[in-house]
Amino acid sequence: MSVEALPSPVLAGSPAAFPAGFVWGAATAAYQIEGAVAEGGRTPSIWDTFSRIPGKVDNGDTGDTALEHYHRYREDVALMASLGLGAYRFSLAWPRIVPGGRGPVNEIGLDFYDRLVDELLAAGVDPVATLYHWDLPQQLEDEGGWTNRATAERFAEYAAVAAARLGDRVSLWTTLNEPWCSAFLGYGNGIHAPGRTSPVEALTAHHHLLLAHGLGTAALRSELPSDAQVALTLNLAAVRTLTDDPADAEAARRIDGLANRIFLDPVFHGRYPADVLADTAHVTDWSFVRDGDLAEISRPIDALGINYYTPTVVAADDPDNPAVRQDGHAGDISPWPADRGVRFLPAEGGRTAMGWPVDADGLYELLIRLRDDLPGVPLMVTENGAAYDDHPDENGEVHDPERIAYLHGHLDAVRRAIADGTPVNGYFVWSLLDNFEWAFGYGKRFGIVRVDFEDQRRIPKDSARWYAEVMRTGRLPEEAGH
Ligand code: FCB
Repeated sequence: MSVEALPSPVLAGSPAAFPAGFVWGAATAAYQIEGAVAEGGRTPSIWDTFSRIPGKVDNGDTGDTALEHYHRYREDVALMASLGLGAYRFSLAWPRIVPGGRGPVNEIGLDFYDRLVDELLAAGVDPVATLYHWDLPQQLEDEGGWTNRATAERFAEYAAVAAARLGDRVSLWTTLNEPWCSAFLGYGNGIHAPGRTSPVEALTAHHHLLLAHGLGTAALRSELPSDAQVALTLNLAAVRTLTDDPADAEAARRIDGLANRIFLDPVFHGRYPADVLADTAHVTDWSFVRDGDLAEISRPIDALGINYYTPTVVAADDPDNPAVRQDGHAGDISPWPADRGVRFLPAEGGRTAMGWPVDADGLYELLIRLRDDLPGVPLMVTENGAAYDDHPDENGEVHDPERIAYLHGHLDAVRRAIADGTPVNGYFVWSLLDNFEWAFGYGKRFGIVRVDFEDQRRIPKDSARWYAEVMRTGRLPEEAGH
């Protein structure tokens, strides 16, 4: 599969149609679906450890069994084929492939992904592999995790192993998924594994994750055929203010720095933004950045993946401001290492079961900003979707009109961005299947396919049928649900 930049919007006839060659997909991640955590030579990851700490995951849920995808992958691929999925974005579990994070390769783990990839290709579904979707081998966390520079080197070794085995059949690779979450939720406010709460560790982890991306990109390139593509997936923020007040603009600058430019500047321009370094100077002197690191981090990549769910609304933290603090993730400690002077406000609009406001214009704004800031960089929406509290009716069917409306609105935002000259080459709905939603456990259902966690039955929701039709026709219906 190729994500070449589209020379110009090639819209097939109708304003609701997507360009020919647009990649239609759905996404999952290893720890959220595989289960079988102690099988086939897999060792514990930081999420196995973290989910066992009382109070860290709702309902005490863990990924131990999850969706049993490790055993049911054939059934799941058949389901993808029945929906007409063009591409499937999944992640590889590092602790299955290199148990313990270093040293001998586990052939049984590689064999699993080998079979999965073959099954996908036989079903006509393009495999898109992510190397790191948050399941760091616990052994490496015990040695410092992402605060330890050596973890980036271990990641590159693992990347080379995975590419050597699968690179003849997987042509699109993503190094990291949402390193913001790994660094800032994992080491900043501790709501994700490994659960540390240290601003300096969050920034140190951030840099080492980017270094891992750079070293991993080089390792992938050394093993992959020359036409294979390497990408990075970021959860960039569509930062908004409610007023033109300069104090609010200052809050937006600060969060834009910590959410967006702290990634985009090093990856695409080989430097950290001066204002972010200044904003965080009371936290760290950034001496963990060594000569040559930024050259590694800014190795050219072939596409940028964007995960988008909801906008980020900020204001100056003025005591007279009646707004309530709301970071999107519960927790008293801020994930941001240096958000002094910033208040997070609830955006307008209906909310998903996560409490996240529904606002498709945020996705449009983000894509247009990337069109302007990163000319020529092909983009893909690698995650977008919504959790709703849906249940089967008496006939066992799941009617989820809110999810259909959400997907319709956001796909329309993508279509508008393409029409306005943004090279967006694909869209992956999050998620194919209801799954283990990290700190929220199995209580939040993002799937277009319902999973009954008691008997592991997969039940396509109305949204799955709706999406299948969008993929088949390459166009949005006039109105959601039609
Ligand atoms: C993203 C994660 C994904 C899923 C969605 C809802 O941050 O990448 O695994 O949890 O949010």
